[in-house]
Amino acid sequence: SKTFYGRDFLTLLDYTPNEIDTLIKSALTIKNNQAEYADVLKGQSLGMIFENASTRTRVSFEVGMTQLGGHALFLSPRDMQIGRGEPVKDTANVLSRYVNAIMIRTNSHELVEELAEHASVPVINALTDGYHPCQAMADLLTIHEHKGSLKGLKLAYVGDGNNVAHSLLAAGAKVGMDVSVATPVGYEVNQEIFEKAKTAAEDTGATLIQTNDPKEALQNADVIYTDVWASMGYEQEQDERLKQFSQFQVNSELASLAKADYIFLHCLPAHRGEEVSADVIDGPHSAVYDQAENRLHAQKAILVSLLTNP
Ligand code: CP
Ligand code: NVA
Repeated sequence: SKTFYGRDFLTLLDYTPNEIDTLIKSALTIKNNQAEYADVLKGQSLGMIFENASTRTRVSFEVGMTQLGGHALFLSPRDMQIGRGEPVKDTANVLSRYVNAIMIRTNSHELVEELAEHASVPVINALTDGYHPCQAMADLLTIHEHKGSLKGLKLAYVGDGNNVAHSLLAAGAKVGMDVSVATPVGYEVNQEIFEKAKTAAEDTGATLIQTNDPKEALQNADVIYTDVWASMGYEQEQDERLKQFSQFQVNSELASLAKADYIFLHCLPAHRGEEVSADVIDGPHSAVYDQAENRLHAQKAILVSLLTNP
C-alpha cells in the first residue's frame, strides 16, 4: 500500500479506508505507549499558520510535536509577510526550506490547496470552510474507544452544514459508519462535498443522509454530534442564525430519540443554551473532553505517519 510519508493531509477523502484504519490504530498505539515515541521526530519542525483563533488545535499540535521530540512554531499572518500580500507560492517554497511540515488554519480551502501544491513538505489542514480532518480523526478515535467499533454505528449530526459536518460525512464514508445530517433549510452541507462522500461510501457501505428534520436524524443514533451555529468568519450572521436554528438545539428531549447509550460529541468551543443544552454537554453521555484530548493523540499519529520514512 501507498506510504503516508511526504503526503498532505487536507481531507479524509484523499485517504483509503485502509489508511484511515491504520491511522486510528497508530493513534491508539501512540496514546498507550507515549514514551516510545519521545524521539521519533527529533530535529523536525512544524510551522503552524493560524489565520483564525484556536485553543485545541494550537496547543495539541505544539504539545504533540514536543512529545515526539520535535518543535512547533506558531505563525500569525498578522505578523508574516503573507499577511501583507506575499504570494502563497513564495511562502510555500520558502517555508519548505526551513520546516518539515506546514499546518494551516484559514477559511479558504482553495488557499490551502494552493499552499500544498507549492510546498515540497506535507501540508496539514487545521480547519478550512471545507473540512476539519484532524478533528474527524480525533472523533473516530473517541467513538472507537467508547463504542468498541465504528462500522455499522450511526452518527447524527444536528446543526449547521459546515466544515465539521463535511468531515464527519467523509469520516463515516471511510469507516462504514452511517451519518445523518440534519440542518435548517438553507444551511445544508455543500452538495459537491456530499456527493464526494457518497461516492466514497460505496466502498464501505456507509449510509449518508441529509434532512431538515433533527428528529429523523436522531432516531437510533449511537453518537449525537453538534457544532456552533455561526462558524469563524460568519459571526455577523449570528442573530439571523439564532432564529433559523432554534429547533435544532441538542437537548435532553431531542437526545431521548437516540439509543439509550448514545454518546454526545462536540468539537468545541460550545455555546450552552444555543446548539446544545448544558444538561446534555455536561451530562453523563458527554465525551467532549475525551474527544478534545484525542486531538493530541490523533494528530501525533498523523505527524508520525507523514514525517517518518518507514
Ligand atoms: N475543535 C477545534 O478545532 O478547536 P480550536 O478552534 O480551539 O482549535
Ligand atoms: N465550525 C467551527 C469549528 C471550530 C473548531 C468553525 O469553523 O468555526
